[in-house]
Amino acid sequence: MATTDTTARKLHIVDNTIVVKESIPPKAPPERLNGFKTLRWWRNRPPSNAAVSFVRKEVLVTGADSDLGLEAAVKYAKAHCTLLILGVRTVENGERAKKKILKRSKRLCDKFITIVVMDLSTSSAVERTFTEIRGALSQYELTLDIALLCDSPVEPILKPTYDWETPLQLHTLRTAYLAWLLLPLINTGKPSEPGHLTFVNSTSRGAVPRKWFQDNFLRKKAANSSYPLPKSYQSVKMLGLAIMQGFARIVDVTTFNHRSYQVVVNACCPYLCKSNLGRNFPLHVPGTINPLQYILARSAKEGARTLVSATALDHDGHRGF
Ligand SMILES: NC(=O)c1ccc[n+]([C@@H]2O[C@H](COP(=O)([O-])OP(=O)(O)OC[C@H]3O[C@@H](n4cnc5c(N)ncnc54)[C@H](OP(=O)(O)O)[C@@H]3O)[C@@H](O)[C@H]2O)c1
Repeated sequence: MATTDTTARKLHIVDNTIVVKESIPPKAPPERLNGFKTLRWWRNRPPSNAAVSFVRKEVLVTGADSDLGLEAAVKYAKAHCTLLILGVRTVENGERAKKKILKRSKRLCDKFITIVVMDLSTSSAVERTFTEIRGALSQYELTLDIALLCDSPVEPILKPTYDWETPLQLHTLRTAYLAWLLLPLINTGKPSEPGHLTFVNSTSRGAVPRKWFQDNFLRKKAANSSYPLPKSYQSVKMLGLAIMQGFARIVDVTTFNHRSYQVVVNACCPYLCKSNLGRNFPLHVPGTINPLQYILARSAKEGARTLVSATALDHDGHRGF
């Protein structure tokens, strides 16, 4: 499987695209390490910053107002993207993020940043979000080169709404619907520079055991209002990976005759990163998560390197994680 971790493969920048030249055995923590020690091993080996330019690239980042999404947005701005669409929950969050991005990227003109209020609460809200994104692009007669879907499935309210558990509904089904609407917009028309649809996933999806699927996993998940948070997170991410594979297949089928993908569809994991994941929860949740992150996690800035690199991979990165 292709990987976006620069420690695992030899990556070269050719014509502004990250090209996988040669596979080398992935570097992994020594087997004697486990648990926290493995996390520290990864923390101490962050990916390198890929020196890719995003000139003439129109980029959408969802969840762009905090942590990994914000850090990725800063990187695109620093790398001179032409248009940066911030998918955020409120205009105020977007304005705050915009200020930070301008300050840190040192770009003088703010015209390249557009804020789109992203609402995944209903299917029609997703359609409205999509219409706003399309409007932002058509205003400048642009297509979308990169969609980095980076919103988080960590929700304090796990009770089901409309028969489905909230994270499953918002971050699996609605995010997939948004991606489905966006896909036709992502096409650079240049085979050497494919567009990218990148889902931020997590290696924790690997913790989902086979037995969860016995007796219709989806129905169980929908019916169980007290799904514990780690289980909810892992299963949403696991389903998210299946969705990524589905989108990759759609792209394969539609571009089969051309023998080159116009859109690279992939997923990536930044590994454990310092972030505010628990901020919408009662105080004891961030109180537990934050000290662990302090000791074991990469910075969000380091984690965002993986995300941005995933959106610059060549065709070899298609369908990869
Ligand atoms: N941090 C890690 O260690 C880690 C590890 C592996 C994978 N990841 C993945 O990386 C992604 C970003 O994580 P993060 O740590 O940066 O999380 P974060 O700080 O909690 O940021 C999540 C972003 O998603 C937005 N969001 C949440 N629910 C939303 C909804 N219903 N509609 C629209 N936007 C919504 C948040 O908006 P508000 O600011 O309005 O809440 C925020 O901008 C997630 O997919 C996460 O699963 C993180």
